[in-house]
Amino acid sequence: MYLFKRRDDLERHLSSARKEGKRIGFVPTMGALHQGHLSLIAAAKENSDLVVCSIFVNPTQFNDPADFEKYPITIDQDVQLLAAAGNDVLFLPTVQEMYPNGLTPDMHYDFGELESVLEGAHRPGHFQGVGQVVHKLLGLVNPDKLFMGQKDFQQCLIINRLIKLLDLKVELVICPTLRETDGLAMSSRNLRLNPTERQNALHISRALTYIKDHIGSSPLNELSQKGMSQLKDHGFDVDYLEMVSILPDGNIAFPSVTGEEPLYAVVAARENSSGVRLIDNMQVN
Ligand code: PAF
Repeated sequence: MYLFKRRDDLERHLSSARKEGKRIGFVPTMGALHQGHLSLIAAAKENSDLVVCSIFVNPTQFNDPADFEKYPITIDQDVQLLAAAGNDVLFLPTVQEMYPNGLTPDMHYDFGELESVLEGAHRPGHFQGVGQVVHKLLGLVNPDKLFMGQKDFQQCLIINRLIKLLDLKVELVICPTLRETDGLAMSSRNLRLNPTERQNALHISRALTYIKDHIGSSPLNELSQKGMSQLKDHGFDVDYLEMVSILPDGNIAFPSVTGEEPLYAVVAARENSSGVRLIDNMQVN
């Protein structure tokens, strides 16, 4: 596996690969890799000739400085996992390398109302930061396909919008959320939970499963209220638990009855003793 820390070196390597006709698959990450990330690498390997993974904890997408400071970093283990998974190129830039002119954004992305609901409402500026870094990374890697996880439900919609806004020729491939055997959605932030907190975190996927199991038997708002109370009863500070669908224009709708289109229960909640904010989602129909 090649490891590049500098943009020039990465671009040089990828430009010769492209001249050889290689199709590039890209998996952007913030490290602290788990099986969920490795499933993205596996999907990229299956669908590309050369796989690039980036590890960069992007400061501009953290609206909470404490969350940024506590973001888990396991770089040696990440390198080993990527090499073992057959990843071809790892890009590991510094903040200076990614933001040579400082962190102030040079443009604003018009994500429309997609940016003002759910994560957007609770993490102001977050999606601008995600847009900023993914725009830069796509410019450097210039992949044919971009692989992202369904666990970041709204982020996938934002990146889809970004690709359209910038008229990029990359195909976004969304891969399923991977769960531990007990149902906990895999997430780098799980590393910040002690065994008791991790056990408590299971109530998130349980609340979503409860909704899925009862869909059609109660109105949607009752189901989301019920899921929310289950979380609150276990000490969670719930930012939102909503039932949503995706409109043809890529915006999020909040339907009040079950229709034909896929319906998702989406949740963000803070596990109270750790203070770790977790997100999850599940298709419930
Ligand atoms: O999902 C993530 O890990 C990050 O938001 C991403 C897409 C790598 C951008 O920093």
